[in-house]
Amino acid sequence: MGERLKDKVAIITGGASGIGEAHAHLFANEGAKVVVTDLQDDLGEKVVAAIGKEGGDAIYVHQDVTSESDWDNVVKTTIDKYGAITTLVNNAGVANISGVEEETLDGFNRVVAICQTGVWLGMKACMPALKKSGNGAIVNISSLYGIIGTPSMISYHGAKGAVRLMTKSAGLEYARQGVRINSVHPGIIETPLAKTLSAEYIEMITETTPMGRMGEPMDIATMSLFLCSDEAKFITASEFVVDGGWGAQ
Ligand SMILES: NC(=O)c1ccc[n+]([C@@H]2O[C@H](COP(=O)([O-])OP(=O)(O)OC[C@H]3O[C@@H](n4cnc5c(N)ncnc54)[C@H](O)[C@@H]3O)[C@@H](O)[C@H]2O)c1
Repeated sequence: MGERLKDKVAIITGGASGIGEAHAHLFANEGAKVVVTDLQDDLGEKVVAAIGKEGGDAIYVHQDVTSESDWDNVVKTTIDKYGAITTLVNNAGVANISGVEEETLDGFNRVVAICQTGVWLGMKACMPALKKSGNGAIVNISSLYGIIGTPSMISYHGAKGAVRLMTKSAGLEYARQGVRINSVHPGIIETPLAKTLSAEYIEMITETTPMGRMGEPMDIATMSLFLCSDEAKFITASEFVVDGGWGAQ
């Protein structure tokens, strides 16, 4: 066990799968008490059980990140169990591959509700406790697609771009209140979400990535670990790209 997150209490949304699951393991292995939240209860409970076997301390809480009352429950449960919240990773997300004319209003609103509104609700619900901790940190998981545009993912680009600027706005608002807020922008990462994309799409992205391969969930979790640790104590309102060089072209 490491100690880079000793004395931290971290909420990780979408922690049952992929990038969130990697965060949950890594943060617990670095000494944080971890609250895994998700809609997928069986997978979430498995992640928490696995962390327990590794010697970590974690609980699972069912949560829809678009629900304000679910956020209230997550905050209350975390403080009841661990006494504080020091760290929030807003990771839960979904993607639609739909262009301007193909996208439906329901599809658009769902992506925005989960990827964008959910991030704001998380910051809002956790902020009183993060401020109280005197040394809080939030990482919002955006995407390289929150910085660059591509055809045919109109709702996802909109929501992830919003996360990038909400992060800067909130980071500035809380810069003197003891809460650092940064965004992380993954390129293509091998997760269940990426597996929903077609083989041709994955091949196209992999070829476009200068390193010529997909990243691993842990490549994103290690960036967030740094940003949530006290090693990053002078870093806020900033964006961090982890993409195998894709966005540099
Ligand atoms: N995989 C990639 O290539 C990639 C690239 C850039 C950004 N991202 C972002 O990384 C984050 C994690 O994605 P992933 O690839 O690990 O996907 P994933 O599907 O493996 O995990 C996402 C998790 O979020 C949960 N979730 C979805 N809607 C939810 C809701 N309303 N409330 C609570 N939980 C909900 C899902 O149940 C799932 O467990 C997302 O925000 C995604 O947009 C992923």
